Amino acid sequence: MPFTPDSELDLLFPPEHIPDNVRQQLHSDLHIRPLALTDYQRGHLSVLSVLTVVTDPGEAAWQAQFNALRAAPRTYYSIVIVDKITDRIVAVGTTFIERKFLRGLGSVGHIEDIAVDKSQQGKKLGLRIIQALTVISENSGCYKTILNCSDSNIPFYEKCGFEKKENEMAKYA
Ligand code: ACO
Repeated sequence: MPFTPDSELDLLFPPEHIPDNVRQQLHSDLHIRPLALTDYQRGHLSVLSVLTVVTDPGEAAWQAQFNALRAAPRTYYSIVIVDKITDRIVAVGTTFIERKFLRGLGSVGHIEDIAVDKSQQGKKLGLRIIQALTVISENSGCYKTILNCSDSNIPFYEKCGFEKKENEMAKYA
């Protein structure tokens, strides 16, 4: 499939939110942009499956979820890195902006669902995704950006400038 430029895509948020310095550090065969309505076709779920169990809901349900995220403006920032040769997604990540009543109506950025295709790991794509999401969080006025991860991923996030704080608690339904 030939590479599809941003101008031909229905994007989750304006691409200007992605910082230029992160764009400039990517290899010329790669492009970073917001998630697009047609990204089900570009292997979005397949990349996410390196992270956890992914059940394919079908394209119509995937697009309904995309539209639900877009209906909450300035809240969901899902980004992807696309291989321009194949027009396939090779890395993904999301920042979700939580608006609070404390800290003078402050906001917190939650980084979620970071995944890099197995064949592309170790090439700084994870780092670029985190750098872009952190800038988006900070430019959204967040006083902190946080995430949960396994012990084995702590060194990766430390390389991205994060430090260990507190504990995660979980209760699964
Ligand atoms: N242990 C130690 N160091 C690591 C690790 C690790 N597990 N992963 C990356 N690093 C280091 C790299 O060596 C590199 O260091 P350098 O700058 O000294 O060379 C630096 O961190 C940046 O690494 P990247 O090349 O950007 O890492 P990559 O593109 O492979 O992305 C990621 C890392 C996202 C963890 C990827 O390997 C992946 O998708 N793993 C499977 C899914 C996963 O675990 N996702 C994270 C879940 S947590 C969350 O979503 C909030």
